Amino acid sequence: MSTVFNFTFVPWFRSVAPYIHMHRGKTFVVGMAGEAIAAGKLQHIAQDLALIQSMGVKVVLVHGFRPQVNEQLKAKGHAAKYSHGMRITDEVALDSAQEAAGQLRYEIEAAFSQGLPNTPMAGSTVRVISGNFITARPVGVVDGVDFKHSGLVRKVDVGGITRTLDFGAMVLLSPFGFSPTGEAFNLTMEEVATSVAIALQADKLVFLSEIPGVRVKPLEPDGEDNPIDTELPLAAAEQLLASLPPPQNPTDTSFYLQHCVKACKAGVERSHIIPFATDGSLLLEVYVHDGIGTMVIDEKLEELREATADDVGGILQLIEPFEQDGTLVKRDRTEIERDIANYTIVEHDGVIFACAALYPYPESKTGEMAALTVSPQSQGQGDGEKVLKRVEQRARAMGLDSIFVLTTRTMHWFLKRGFVQVDPDWLPEARKRKYNWNRKSLVFVKKLN
Ligand SMILES: CC(C)(COP(=O)(O)OP(=O)(O)OC[C@H]1O[C@@H](n2cnc3c(N)ncnc32)[C@H](O)[C@@H]1OP(=O)(O)O)[C@@H](O)C(=O)NCCC(=O)NCCS
Repeated sequence: MSTVFNFTFVPWFRSVAPYIHMHRGKTFVVGMAGEAIAAGKLQHIAQDLALIQSMGVKVVLVHGFRPQVNEQLKAKGHAAKYSHGMRITDEVALDSAQEAAGQLRYEIEAAFSQGLPNTPMAGSTVRVISGNFITARPVGVVDGVDFKHSGLVRKVDVGGITRTLDFGAMVLLSPFGFSPTGEAFNLTMEEVATSVAIALQADKLVFLSEIPGVRVKPLEPDGEDNPIDTELPLAAAEQLLASLPPPQNPTDTSFYLQHCVKACKAGVERSHIIPFATDGSLLLEVYVHDGIGTMVIDEKLEELREATADDVGGILQLIEPFEQDGTLVKRDRTEIERDIANYTIVEHDGVIFACAALYPYPESKTGEMAALTVSPQSQGQGDGEKVLKRVEQRARAMGLDSIFVLTTRTMHWFLKRGFVQVDPDWLPEARKRKYNWNRKSLVFVKKLN
């Protein structure tokens, strides 16, 4: 074996370890668009889910079946009928949906039963259990349109699903629900996944979708200058949703986003939209720092906010140990008091756990992020990243094109987050005059989109 492999594999595997520990015992609800199966992605998705489950995650998989139902309808010589962005399920459509769901369940169960040597499934034992976990009610007649056998989720059997998961099985749900009168209703994958995630208070809701995520500028065309927004705070996601037209197609930005927002508002801390087209997208989103799609995150749990005069004492307490060991430049109380409006903090139960200040240099369209600190007991939980994101938002709102930092010890943290090193000569004139040439701080800049 080449020694180069050892040098790449071992650090790589260790870098994944914190995420493996973090997700063990957590519950993920994964909504897989029927299009993913139609596109031939099922085998790889099953392999990735089996791996995730083997690392201690409890998985509920909800499959969609839009293209498969339409195919069945076409074979019967019927056209698919929609209204209000929803399928009208007449008798023929209900038959088609039942046939499609039956077929897909077999395919999915078969995919999880693979175990050939030298494949990612070798040695895996995934028990897949489906069942009547969802009670449904009819959509009924809306604006004079009778939706017939199309339904909405009325109740989720939380106890039943939880017991099945605790038993070590993966729960597989089709977008079907049954009424107390024994009638079957055709539901949407997105609604079932969202309702189940909320009912279970799952740790994650993940949509494996046709779209790569939500773009930074959602109304503008895709392109290098319009990348995927990897993290959307719930408030920003709600604002964006309100500004978009109601979705007509699954490829519309608001289509999956509306479900992510709903789940997040109802207590599911993180909801993700990731592309099934990218091989391994589930693994990339869950076990790699930056992820691949868009994550909607509820920040209410910890308060991330702009600082006020009352926070000066807490900030001083937080940064002092790092000033003493030379990681941060010394700032006295009067300086922090004067600049308090520049600070962003993370507070939990009245204690400040993280902070950073933004000093704008509008003439150079840039700003310095200074005093970025996370308290030692909560480092490594993403607070540093959260504060950075908020500082970036504040800088963008001020019309700045970039932010920069001066650091002597934390270069790699910044490099990993899109900063690049520049010569101190790059600094705005006013900042250059204050640059301490003895300290030899390195300068890193991040361009804002
Ligand atoms: C740098 C700092 C703000 C990061 O905060 P945090 O909340 O721990 O950061 P996050 O949880 O968002 O990120 C944790 C990741 O950063 C890495 N990290 C932490 N400190 C680092 C450092 N000095 N250099 C490189 N990587 C570092 C962790 O290993 C972890 O890696 P992972 O993403 O691969 O899991 C925090 O460690 C800190 O307060 N350090 C002391 C003060 C300081 O150096 N401030 C910067 C002055 S310019």
